[in-house]
Amino acid sequence: MKRQREPGDAVSYQTESVGVLVIGAGAAGARAAIESVRRGVDTSDLLVLGKRGHGDAHTTWARGGVNGALGTRDPEDSPAIHAADTLKEGHFLNDPAKVETVAWEMPGHLRELDDWGMAFSRTDDGEIDQRYFGAQSFRRTAFAGDHTGESLLDTLVARARELEVPYRENLTVTKLVADGDRVYGAVAVDLDDGSVHLIGASEVVLAAGGYAAIYDRHTSRDDENTGDGPALALDAGAAVTDTEFVQFHPTGMAVDESDPEWEPWRGRLVTEAVRGEGGRLYNAEGERFMERYSPDQMELDARDVVARAIAQEVREGRGTENDGVYLDISHRDADFVRERLPRMYERFQDLGVGLSEEPVEVAPTAHYGMGGVVVDDYGETDVSGLFAVGETMAGVHGANRLGGNSLAETLVFGAVAGERIAARDPAPGTVPSRLVASVVEPHVAGLAALADSDGSHTPGGVLADLQTLMWDHAGILRTGDSLRTGLDRLGEIRTASEDLGVGPLGSESFELALDVGFAVTAAETVLRGALERTESRGAHYRTDHRDTDPDWRRHVHYRAADVGLVRSTASVGEPSDTVQAAVDADHELDYHQLE
Ligand code: FUM
Repeated sequence: MKRQREPGDAVSYQTESVGVLVIGAGAAGARAAIESVRRGVDTSDLLVLGKRGHGDAHTTWARGGVNGALGTRDPEDSPAIHAADTLKEGHFLNDPAKVETVAWEMPGHLRELDDWGMAFSRTDDGEIDQRYFGAQSFRRTAFAGDHTGESLLDTLVARARELEVPYRENLTVTKLVADGDRVYGAVAVDLDDGSVHLIGASEVVLAAGGYAAIYDRHTSRDDENTGDGPALALDAGAAVTDTEFVQFHPTGMAVDESDPEWEPWRGRLVTEAVRGEGGRLYNAEGERFMERYSPDQMELDARDVVARAIAQEVREGRGTENDGVYLDISHRDADFVRERLPRMYERFQDLGVGLSEEPVEVAPTAHYGMGGVVVDDYGETDVSGLFAVGETMAGVHGANRLGGNSLAETLVFGAVAGERIAARDPAPGTVPSRLVASVVEPHVAGLAALADSDGSHTPGGVLADLQTLMWDHAGILRTGDSLRTGLDRLGEIRTASEDLGVGPLGSESFELALDVGFAVTAAETVLRGALERTESRGAHYRTDHRDTDPDWRRHVHYRAADVGLVRSTASVGEPSDTVQAAVDADHELDYHQLE
C-alpha cells in the first residue's frame, strides 16, 4: 500500500513533455487548442490542463451574449463600428490593432460556431439573433437565451473532442518554468491525488482567467479568477498592465445576507441581457434614476456609468434595504421573459421571486479585469513561447469593456495564438537541467513546505480579508489616501499569508493557499496602478482626480523584480483610418427605440 506523505518528506514529481501546453480549459484555452490542431499540431504534442472537470470552466458563467457585427437586426452595423464602440467605451486606452482583430474576425467566428452546432437563439427567419447590450450602437450581441457561455463552451468542447484534443482535468499550475527570455514548461499539482507534475513544453498558452474575484463582492466562482494568470506570467518575467481597470457590473444580486437561502447569491450576475431586453432600474423612491445620469442611453449606458449611478443612489440614501436598487422587466410579456432569460427566470423562481412579475434587487459587483498580461498582436508575451489569451491578456478592452466582448476576445485570440503556435511546428519541450536545479526543485520543495505549514492563519480567512480590503480601498470610487491605506493593509495580509495553516498537497486548503499567493500579487498591481493613475478614466474613478487627463492616455506596466514590482509606462497606438472614421461618425445607441 502506498504510504501517505508525512510532513517533512520530500516531494517527488513526474516529468513529461509536450510541444504545446494550454493552461486553462475555458473558451480561450479550448479555442487555442482547436486552432493549433486544425493547423497541424499533432494531438500527441498537445495537452490542455483544466483546474476543474472538462467543460466546467468559468466561461459557463458568461451569460448574455457574444458580440460580432453580423447585422442580423441592424444591417447598418459593421466591424468598423464594432471597433469604434469598443475604443470609445474603452476610453481610447485599448490597443487598436487588437480591437480591430476582434471586430473583423468575430462575424466569421459566430458563423463557425453555428456550423459547429451552437444553440444560438434565432430570429423568425432562422438567422442568429442579436440583442442590445450596453453602449453599443446597434444590436450586435448574439446569444443563446441567457446561457451563452455555457452553450459556447459546450460547442467548443464537443469540437475539441472530435479532434481528440487531450485534456487533463483537476490540475492546477503553480509555476511557469522560464528563464526570463523563454518559457520551458510548467509545474502543476493534481488536485485529486496531490501528485506533482513537471510538464516541459515549447509553447505555453496561459488561458487562466482574470482577477475580479480578489474583490469581496464578485460574479466569479469563488475559487476562480483570483489572479493566477497575471501572477504566473509576472513570475515568469512577462509584464502586466492596466489592472487598475476593474469592471464593476451594475447588476449583481443584492441580497439579505442574514438569509441562508439568499446569501450564497450575493453579488452573482443578473445578466445585462435583462436590461438589453428592456429591463428598467428604479431607486427605492420609485424614480427611474438613469434619466438623471444618462437621458439618452438610460439603462444601457456603459457599465461604469450605470454602476456609479447605482452606487450614488445607494450612497445618497435612495437604495433598497439590501443596499441596491430595483431592476424591473415586468412590463414585458411573461413568455418573452421566460424565453429570452430562462436561467435568470429559473434562478429567481427557485428563490420565490417571479422575474416577469416583480422587480429584483441589484447592486454593482466586481465582474472583470480589463488589465492583464502584455502581449503582442499574436497573443505572445515578450517571454518567448509564452502566450496569454482571454481574460488573462490585456489590450482589447482599455478602461472599460463592452459587455459581450469578453467571449469574443476568447474566441479570436484563442484562434490567433493557436495559429501562430502551429506555424512554429513545436517539438516536445524539455526543461534544461540548469532550470530543474535552480527553479523546479526549489519550487517543488516550496510546495511541500506550504503543504506542511501549520501557521496561525487559514487561507480562506486571509483571502476573505484581502477581498474586503480590495472592496473597501480599490472599489468603484477611489482616492489616493484609500489606495495608500490599502497598500499598507496589503503588506499585513502578505505577512499573514506567510504564516498559513495548510492541508496536504492537492487539498482544498492547499489550493486556497495558492490562490492567496496569486491574489496578493494581483492586488498589489491593482492598488499600485490605481494610485499611480492620477485621473479618472472608464472604470477607474478617483474622487480626488475626477477628470480624464489626456497625458494619462498611456499604460502602466509592471514586472517582477527581485524585490517587489518595477514600473514603466507605454504609449497607446492609433486606430486605422476606417475605424477612426467610424469613431468620428459618432454612432450612438438611442435607448428610447427600445420603449
Ligand atoms: O451581463 C452579462 O451577461 C455579462 C456579459 C459580459 O460580461 O460580457
